[in-house]
Amino acid sequence: MQQLIFTNEVALALTQVINGKQYNRVFVLVDENTAREVLPLVKCEAIADACTITIPAGDTHKTLDTLSHVWQQLQEGGATRHSLLINLGGGVVTDLGGMAAATFKRGIDFVNCPTTLLSAVDAAVGGKTGINFGGFKNELGVFQEAQAVVISTKFFATLPAAELRSGYAEMLKHGMLESHAEFSRLLNFNVADASLDELLALLETSVKVKQRIVEQDPHEKGLRRALNLGHTVGHAFESMALHRGNPIPHGYAVAWGLVAETVLSHMKLKFASSDLQALAVFVRDNYGAFHITCDDYPLLLDYMHHDKKSVSGEINCSLLRACGDVETGVTVTDDDMSAALDIYRDLLGI
Ligand code: GLY
Repeated sequence: MQQLIFTNEVALALTQVINGKQYNRVFVLVDENTAREVLPLVKCEAIADACTITIPAGDTHKTLDTLSHVWQQLQEGGATRHSLLINLGGGVVTDLGGMAAATFKRGIDFVNCPTTLLSAVDAAVGGKTGINFGGFKNELGVFQEAQAVVISTKFFATLPAAELRSGYAEMLKHGMLESHAEFSRLLNFNVADASLDELLALLETSVKVKQRIVEQDPHEKGLRRALNLGHTVGHAFESMALHRGNPIPHGYAVAWGLVAETVLSHMKLKFASSDLQALAVFVRDNYGAFHITCDDYPLLLDYMHHDKKSVSGEINCSLLRACGDVETGVTVTDDDMSAALDIYRDLLGI
């Protein structure tokens, strides 16, 4: 089982992980931002002699060229099967670094140390690694779990508020998958003025929800699809925003997608309307709304039919009977989806 360490003493945690094994060389992968902002915060004796590999920041650099650069740096730095790669960054660094480590000499150990809330709650945990290829996101990759994931909220102090909110949407998703109590706890947290200590405690519960699901279905044959809650509509909103030339943060798309898919859950599986209303109020207050009219529905439906996770062109969603009670692979008709989008617009006041 993947070791998860929740701490604000990151240097100490890394030292313990490194000293627990006899690594002959340690490498640290950073992007140009985490090299400047985060690496100085985790400097410690255990990584004093580590070789730093720096890549450019941003999803446009999650490419074969960047991966090749990392392989080359590992090779030139003398990495062997007994070496360790520490991925210190957001989702691009942990996804690409994980793939570099999983494939170098058929696999070396790696540790993820996520520096954004979104990567801490999602990308860094659960063994999905990868890069974009041929115009498609995460087209190439392997499933390989990190040796350990060191999760701290101390890096989030300087994150823009929108980035915290973006990650928080994935926490809301985990809370809804877990239980009504967890859902309520998350709705009562003040994300606009987040206490990083309280957030660390919420994050621990949230990441463990994901870990439990992934353990039961590591290669996404069934239950792991539950983690797609909010993403069928969310991805369509993201694609539409990109098409309009006005991209939106992933987590915002997930928050709005959660509202639409909770409407569907209410329509198809009798999810409680009081919980739907509470979610909609929280999302409206913290994320605003993604503006659509009924003229946008044909394009949105088209994106959903072509979603990477759709089976034989049908729209498939993971929906909830109640918080903590998920049903994966629910087929949704175009009429159902259009009705849900109408109610999404009403709830968010569009
Ligand atoms: N991001 C969802 C998953 O890891 O399966």
